[in-house]
Amino acid sequence: MMPGTEGYRRPARWMHWLIAVLVLLMIPAGLIMVQKGLPRPVQDTLFIFHKNTGVILFLLMVLRLAYRWRYPPPPLPGSVPGWQRLAAHVTHIGLYVLLIVMPISGYVRVRAGGFPIEGLDALGIGTLLPKSEALATAAQSVHITCAFLLMALIGLHVAAALQHALIRRDGIWSRIWPP
Ligand code: HEM
Ligand code: HEM
Repeated sequence: MMPGTEGYRRPARWMHWLIAVLVLLMIPAGLIMVQKGLPRPVQDTLFIFHKNTGVILFLLMVLRLAYRWRYPPPPLPGSVPGWQRLAAHVTHIGLYVLLIVMPISGYVRVRAGGFPIEGLDALGIGTLLPKSEALATAAQSVHITCAFLLMALIGLHVAAALQHALIRRDGIWSRIWPP
């Protein structure tokens, strides 16, 4: 088999798609739940979904990064030019960093604000932070800024992936699909 054509291992593929679906649900949930004038039950449901799924995403990301460390991804095929390798590498690092920063800043924003995270509360995992308006506000700015960076990187990432899948058909797509 040519180097670069064997693709990601199955657990890496599963984690990619599970996390992708969850993130693609988290973003609209986050954007909608902060709108003014939403019916209260809708807003509450979105907040509960967003906070608790965000915590699960954090755990999945830790698992994914540990797996990646243990089983590094296969090398890209030689047909991919140097600047695209670099672009892919930088984008992937950016996505990983943001997917760690997002749940942590969300957690800090909520806990320093003195709010519940229902799943953790039910498990008896109390807050790790004191209540602090200043900390909550700082974390909120990080969360919102990083949310927009994340959306931009996902846009770039999906555009590149579709280009490989539909136009170049160079085998990059089948490195990660099917799970
Ligand atoms: C639904 C649209 C998506 C498509 C079509 C897609 C497609 C792909 C493809 C084809 C690869 C393999 C690239 C390679 O062979 O090197 C990949 C890798 C990756 N994707 Fe996605 N992806 C999507 C969504 C996402 C989302 C939402 C995220 C994160 C927020 C994400 C994060 C990543 C990361 C970090 C890698 C690199 C994996 C690694 O090398 O460790 N993807 N994606
Ligand atoms: C990968 C994980 C996450 C993603 C992609 C994400 C994404 C978003 C987005 C797009 C927004 C809307 C930003 C805006 O325009 O106001 C938002 C808001 C928010 N998120 Fe997250 N989030 C994540 C994790 C979390 C977690 C784990 C928590 C809490 C435990 C959380 C709590 C919040 C809160 C409280 C807001 C409202 C911010 C405000 O006060 O305006 N998020 N999130």
